Amino acid sequence: MNKNPVILGTGSYLPENVVTNTDLESRVDTSDEWIRTRSGISERRIADEDQSASDLGVPAARAALEDADVSPGSIDLVVVPTSTPDMAFPSTACAIQDQLGISGAAAFDISAACSGYIYGLSIAHSQIKAGVVENVLLVAPEVYSRVLNWDDRTTCVLFGDGAAAVVLGSSADGSDAGFKSLYIKSDGENRDILTLPSGGSALPLTPESVEKGEHLLSMDGRAVYRIAVRRMRSSALKVLHRADMKSEDIDWVICHQANTRIIDSVRKRLKMPKKKMIVNLDKYGNTSAASIGIALDEARRDGRVSSGDTVMFVAFGGGLTWGAAIVTLP
Ligand code: UT7
Repeated sequence: MNKNPVILGTGSYLPENVVTNTDLESRVDTSDEWIRTRSGISERRIADEDQSASDLGVPAARAALEDADVSPGSIDLVVVPTSTPDMAFPSTACAIQDQLGISGAAAFDISAACSGYIYGLSIAHSQIKAGVVENVLLVAPEVYSRVLNWDDRTTCVLFGDGAAAVVLGSSADGSDAGFKSLYIKSDGENRDILTLPSGGSALPLTPESVEKGEHLLSMDGRAVYRIAVRRMRSSALKVLHRADMKSEDIDWVICHQANTRIIDSVRKRLKMPKKKMIVNLDKYGNTSAASIGIALDEARRDGRVSSGDTVMFVAFGGGLTWGAAIVTLP
């Protein structure tokens, strides 16, 4: 039987603690005005000290399972894109699998930074399509507050914590729902411009590496910005072309929530009206792999995105990685 992968349900979880731009003014030499005009961010959520990635992922996953009306026992695969896993191994996917009691599934993490949600959708799509699994739970939890240099004003003001989840399965025969196109790509040549260098086998954690701050995120924001604009715009056009669709066929666009200026440049390239762009980074900052999924879940729950709508996702992140997808919701 030809399987047609679809999104069956979504969920998200944001920690309660809100940190505003004004709060950050007392920490680094910055201003609410600079952060809002350069990035579009007003506030972000920060996880409690005892909350790890899996702790954020589990409530998001429960919400998605409930929304999809799929029991944990029916999940065959748990995929977790995250750059801030609980630990190097075992995977955060295995931790989430255990906490949800999903005994009959394979579980693994993927490393694609802020493009992780689209990479995860791509993996889920192909596994279902090939008939390897029936139902996939994709959970993207990020705790960037743990890996930020809180003395570096060029990065610490941009990121926030949160988790998104989505359950994928197959549509009923004859349904128009499902993925119209998917595109993922990487460029390892530029991996140095957005990185968290130490803690792995190349540069193990030592007192010296910690002293130099190499265990924390570093980013050449200007360089990332330039490439992100180019790659996100071309990815959006690529998925339209692959799906043989036009901008007018898309009901909603959800870009990775990193910077309103980047999102606006994608919008202009697609000639999309502003009202079709779903943007929430003012409230949550850049939540990396979680950002698209949080925005999708929020927009579905507040009634903007509904059954039958066609949504475009566009992402960009460390690696460098990028990608896009067009999907019609059942
Ligand atoms: O999710 C992964 C992908 N990540 C991204 O997409 C991030 C891409 N980059 C960006 O979004 C933007 O480049 C930033 C928001 C990071 C920076 O905006 P920008 O317009 O590119 O600013 P800039 O880096 O060119 O910095 C302009 C000035 C600099 O001062 P000088 O050299 O002109 O004197 C910075 O030192 O702003 C200064 N600056 C700040 N000032 C106040 C940098 N950070 C801050 C800050 N507060 N937090």
